[in-house]
Amino acid sequence: MFGLPNIEQYFYSFTTGSVHVQDLEKELRDLRGFLSAHGVVARTAVDVGCGDGHVTARLRDLLQLDTIHGFEINPRLVEKARRRGLPIVLADVLSMTVTGNFDVAITYGAMHHFRDADPFIAALRRLSRRYVLVVDSTVRTTLLHRFTGAPWFPLEASPYRIRTVDEIVAAMEASGLRILGSHTNENANIWHDRSFILGERSDADTSQRHEPARYSGSV
Ligand SMILES: C[S@@+](CC[C@H](N)C(=O)[O-])C[C@H]1O[C@@H](n2cnc3c(N)ncnc32)[C@H](O)[C@@H]1O
Repeated sequence: MFGLPNIEQYFYSFTTGSVHVQDLEKELRDLRGFLSAHGVVARTAVDVGCGDGHVTARLRDLLQLDTIHGFEINPRLVEKARRRGLPIVLADVLSMTVTGNFDVAITYGAMHHFRDADPFIAALRRLSRRYVLVVDSTVRTTLLHRFTGAPWFPLEASPYRIRTVDEIVAAMEASGLRILGSHTNENANIWHDRSFILGERSDADTSQRHEPARYSGSV
């Protein structure tokens, strides 16, 4: 109904997106270290392309957030995530005219589901008052993996291709985000790396003032 291939919707109805990751526990530990090394303190977050909310709930605990919202296009997954007690919006993030005041806008393994990076990053930026965090599989930088890494990895349910870290960084910078750091490891699968890329809005609200999470606009 939202224009995604049905097979993708079907696939994620039965498995979480973190199927892409070899060791989710390790990745979450690494992510905590990465964020604390960059001094990220957040109380509110939004998880865009949140799937069934499994990772969303883990992020809430990991970052000791007061609240985390999710945006997800697949109604079955929205239902599952809501059953975890998470506030989830059923929406195509690209069709939203939304702004938010979340301390951090996160996308966890969902960016490679978007054909065009720019409108996707722009949506994340509009939802955030300060940080944008992209976690995704990325093309490994050896010659062999440049060939095999994209776009048709057999377990890859997305029809869209895996990006390089440089492509993601370029899209974030083009959207007015300053890159604070990135971290890459081989935790995705035999073809792809897994990367964290952290950006900050150039017009970030860096006050410690705490505002309850909210968004406005049409979804
Ligand atoms: C690889 S899964 C990641 C799910 C979750 N973040 C996780 O780690 O388990 C990508 C998710 O993005 C969602 N998605 C794809 N296009 C979307 C869109 N336009 N708006 C909102 N969600 C979308 C898919 O339905 C899918 O659940």
